[in-house]
Amino acid sequence: MNVTLFCAISADGFIATSERNSEWISMEVDAPIWEAEIKKRGCIIVGSKAFYQYLDDVYPFPEVQNIVITSQTDRENKWDNVTFVEPDASKALSVAESLGFPEVLLVGGAKTNGLFLKSGKVNGIILDIHPLLLGSGIKVFEDTDSRMINLQKLSSQELSEGHTLLHYKVV
Ligand SMILES: NC(=O)c1ccc[n+]([C@@H]2O[C@H](COP(=O)([O-])OP(=O)(O)OC[C@H]3O[C@@H](n4cnc5c(N)ncnc54)[C@H](OP(=O)(O)O)[C@@H]3O)[C@@H](O)[C@H]2O)c1
Repeated sequence: MNVTLFCAISADGFIATSERNSEWISMEVDAPIWEAEIKKRGCIIVGSKAFYQYLDDVYPFPEVQNIVITSQTDRENKWDNVTFVEPDASKALSVAESLGFPEVLLVGGAKTNGLFLKSGKVNGIILDIHPLLLGSGIKVFEDTDSRMINLQKLSSQELSEGHTLLHYKVV
């Protein structure tokens, strides 16, 4: 199972403001790349906070499998492309595998990213660095151990509007 994390980040390394605002994320530059990465894999893993924050707006992401990480797996599920899985990275990946997906895109937020990193399940990281500073906010990973992890840069791409797209392999 291959797990790639995709994140839109500020140049000072935050994925949202302290007020959980993501309005700064570029719909013109970021969104098409993010959507293409999702469609390529057909399956996303998303934390319940991000899922419900953008319910109806972004999630459930249409025509792909949405695996939502939540301790409340008995939540009402009115969608046929949504599966609730408890906060256990191996279990979530087994579910993806059993549904026929060899690759998934991990789309945040921070706690969910931390859960997968801590479990050693993240193989790749794609960062769309936006040319702005948020000053403070939510980091890419929360609740991780402080272990250093080396990355190998696979590609670096200059995008329009001053964005840089970095693709790393976790080694
Ligand atoms: N810039 C970006 O690319 C990007 C992408 C996604 C999200 N975001 C931002 O990230 C923020 C959300 O991040 P977040 O960290 O607050 O929430 P999150 O990771 O989206 O969701 C956290 C929830 O998922 C479950 N969960 C995930 N990992 C867990 C763990 N290790 N232990 C226990 N429960 C776990 C729990 O659900 P239950 O409470 O249901 O049990 C927890 O409350 C939002 O502000 C959003 O805008 C930014």
